[in-house]
Amino acid sequence: MNRTLAIIKPDAVAAGRAGAILTLLEDKGFKPVALRMTRLNPAQARAFYAVHRERPFFESLVSFMTSGPVVPMVLEAEGAVPLLRTVIGATDPAEAEEGTVRALYAESKERNAIHASDSNENAVNEIAFFFSEHDLLSL
Ligand code: CMP
Repeated sequence: MNRTLAIIKPDAVAAGRAGAILTLLEDKGFKPVALRMTRLNPAQARAFYAVHRERPFFESLVSFMTSGPVVPMVLEAEGAVPLLRTVIGATDPAEAEEGTVRALYAESKERNAIHASDSNENAVNEIAFFFSEHDLLSL
């Protein structure tokens, strides 16, 4: 069994879609093993997305990610990282496959409803960003 990190982003939380997205993820076979609601401050958002700091959209991304509450969660499934990337769809909702989280709930390439770790190595680091080992349930 593998783990990955998902974050339901401020656009989807504000639109009242957090529950619908969690249901979709559970229906796809993911088991949440840790989940909380928080609001990132700018330093936290910059640190989380540090890999994008040279990108033109970085400041806008930080502003968006700090604009309201987010719901980070640790999800467990066989092949959790690639499976979740498939289930959330392409970064740009216009390119996301039908039935994916972003096709259903994203507003734009930036306001795209959900984040998911893109590798097992990043999943370990991103899980540790939001949760301590003590927070993770053993199912
Ligand atoms: P995420 O998968 O969380 O990883 C980085 C985020 O940056 C991405 O989702 C989008 O929210 C945002 N992003 C990526 N590309 C662009 C872009 N071209 N313009 C604006 N925001 C972007």
